[in-house]
Amino acid sequence: MIVFKGVTKRFKRTAALHDASFRVEKGSMAGLIGPNGSGKTTSLKLMLGLLRRDSGEIEILGHDPWMEGEVVRAFTGFLPESPIYPRNIRVSQLLGHVARLKYASRFDVSRIARLVGIERYMEHQVSALSRGYLQRLGLAIALLGDPEILLLDEPTANLDPKARIEILRLVSILKRDLGATIIISSHILPELQQVIDSAILIARGKVVDYGSIDYLASKYGARIVYAVYTRNPRTLMKRLVDVDYVRGVVERGEYVEVHIDPLAGEEFLRLVDSLGGDLASRVEVRSGYLGEIYERAIAT
Ligand SMILES: Nc1ncnc2c1ncn2[C@@H]1O[C@H](COP(=O)(O)OP(=O)(O)OP(=O)(O)O)[C@@H](O)[C@H]1O
Ligand SMILES: [Mg+2]
Repeated sequence: MIVFKGVTKRFKRTAALHDASFRVEKGSMAGLIGPNGSGKTTSLKLMLGLLRRDSGEIEILGHDPWMEGEVVRAFTGFLPESPIYPRNIRVSQLLGHVARLKYASRFDVSRIARLVGIERYMEHQVSALSRGYLQRLGLAIALLGDPEILLLDEPTANLDPKARIEILRLVSILKRDLGATIIISSHILPELQQVIDSAILIARGKVVDYGSIDYLASKYGARIVYAVYTRNPRTLMKRLVDVDYVRGVVERGEYVEVHIDPLAGEEFLRLVDSLGGDLASRVEVRSGYLGEIYERAIAT
């Protein structure tokens, strides 16, 4: 478990983090969510023991990262916000060095290279990699040594939409396969909501709220909105109003707008599928719930 209790971190007069408290359960994938300058990177660096807090308590799997930084960093993988890699070195050499530092084997290097999809680039110079592949290299470095905790600072920044989705899909697979506890910072909410199961919401250095998506969504009454295209809106609406996770249906001409509980998304899509093309020809997500949760949480 990762625990912050009343943590404050100041840089001169600015409090980058002020009296921040939250916890992240073991094995979960938490989003660290907030706009630019809200304290995301500062929080991650405090977790790694790279910064010293001014007050409060931090516990990473039972260790204090400032007092026991080496211990914490040994079981934690980190993808920094703007990593700097030596450029005139081959990918395989760089990963080999990191593997030695983390007591990982040559076999681990090829397994992880395959996992993040850079095996074809192993003999390329680091300087020849595109941004997307540099990001994969960063993930590979973070993953070497099979960390119990993975801290990813804006892993999709500067990537094209296709690469962003690939990286997030990769992170989900990693969570499933490695069972690590993952914290992923971002301000791009629609894509983050596809992978996280809990969130820490921060604004101007303060933790506004935190918890499972289930808890946050019901506390702030957030919904997913779908548009279901149909030739027969009335019949479709009759079919949907009594479904227990459907919170509202609105006729919009060629489609019906359906508001549902956030975690019922997959179930809803299966239901729509089963209705057949006459009743539901196409379905689109209209809005996400993570942005809604964030807006409502900071407004209260
Ligand atoms: N080394 C530093 N010296 C002085 N101020 C700093 C330092 N690092 C961070 N800050 C300040 O602390 C606040 C929080 O910064 P932080 O980098 O944690 O934000 P962030 O949420 O990661 O933002 P971004 O989304 O832009 O990466 C900002 O006001 C920033 O200017
Ligand atoms: Mg940052």
